[in-house]
Amino acid sequence: MTDPVFDTAATRAFGTRLPIVAGGLMWLGDAAYVSACARAGIMGFITAASFPDTLDAEIAKCRDMAEGNPFGVNVSMLPKLVPGEKTADVFRQIADAGVRVVETSGRNPEPYIPQLKDAGITVLHKVPSVRFAVKAQSVGVDMVTIVGAECGGHPGMDLVGSMVNMALAEERLDIPFLIGGGIGAGSQIVAALAAGASGVTIGTRFLVCEELTAHPGYKQAMVDASERDTDLTMQTVRNTIRTLKNETTKEVARLERENPEGGIDQLMPLVKGTIGRQAYASGDVSWGMLSAGQALGLTDAIKPLAEIVAELEHEAEVALARLRPERRTA
Ligand SMILES: Cc1cc2nc3c(=O)[nH]c(=O)nc-3n(C[C@H](O)[C@H](O)[C@H](O)COP(=O)(O)O)c2cc1C
Repeated sequence: MTDPVFDTAATRAFGTRLPIVAGGLMWLGDAAYVSACARAGIMGFITAASFPDTLDAEIAKCRDMAEGNPFGVNVSMLPKLVPGEKTADVFRQIADAGVRVVETSGRNPEPYIPQLKDAGITVLHKVPSVRFAVKAQSVGVDMVTIVGAECGGHPGMDLVGSMVNMALAEERLDIPFLIGGGIGAGSQIVAALAAGASGVTIGTRFLVCEELTAHPGYKQAMVDASERDTDLTMQTVRNTIRTLKNETTKEVARLERENPEGGIDQLMPLVKGTIGRQAYASGDVSWGMLSAGQALGLTDAIKPLAEIVAELEHEAEVALARLRPERRTA
């Protein structure tokens, strides 16, 4: 992406070549994956919650493998993943390790903003709706990602799509914003930039990269799945999640339909993260809540991350040329 339109507030803030962020991936956002992102010229995030006791070591390993390119740490502040009282400690650890960008998500980061600002850390806060982005802006985050209903993982309760989010964000925000949810082709990056975004955040499209620490059977299932192969569940507990359609999502949907008041206790035996983690290791995707979004329709083969990024770059250049016919014929 040599065109100046790809040089944005995000590439300048992160020091990356491209306006592409690989969002945090629970259990999968390790040094191997994140350093591959860094080497490919995009911003990746180690998921702190996946390394409760070994975050320092994972950061050090990533730094060794990143060949001098920047990377960050994701702190998903869901109470279950990083208990409230520990969040400040995690941020301190990240600052001490010399990491200068965090992707936060899960709840309002306001209590930690002074600590992060003091440490000189850039805060990219991820939200599932423009109304939360407006709130995040008001508490002083540097940048926001708004993920639309298409996304893998948690799209929130509003379920507004990325096309609407990008137009609303442009109207309502003053700080730089990124668009996530369903992004898996270069044309969508150009669309987001045209709408005023400073870049995009991607999860699902990268699940098929060689560097991801997961069984090839899992990755092949992500290649084979289409945009129609995800389910939205857990709305009865106000924690909507989009995952690969499988035996678990069918069973969760049945429980929610038959006993909508059952709460998290009836779902927990099915939705606990350890089951999903087993699927990453075994390649058997029939059980477990395996976060994945509609961009599954845009995955084509297991290949090195740099190759996927190069394809996105090429597609973006083509999309841009489509908008500038005089260049196409030149
Ligand atoms: C397997 C998987 C795990 C994820 N884990 C996290 C997480 O731990 N923390 C977080 O903030 N976002 C998480 N996400 C969301 C991604 O960082 C990103 O926002 C989202 O995938 C973007 O939408 P897309 O899947 O349509 O590309 C996860 C997404 C996937 C697919």
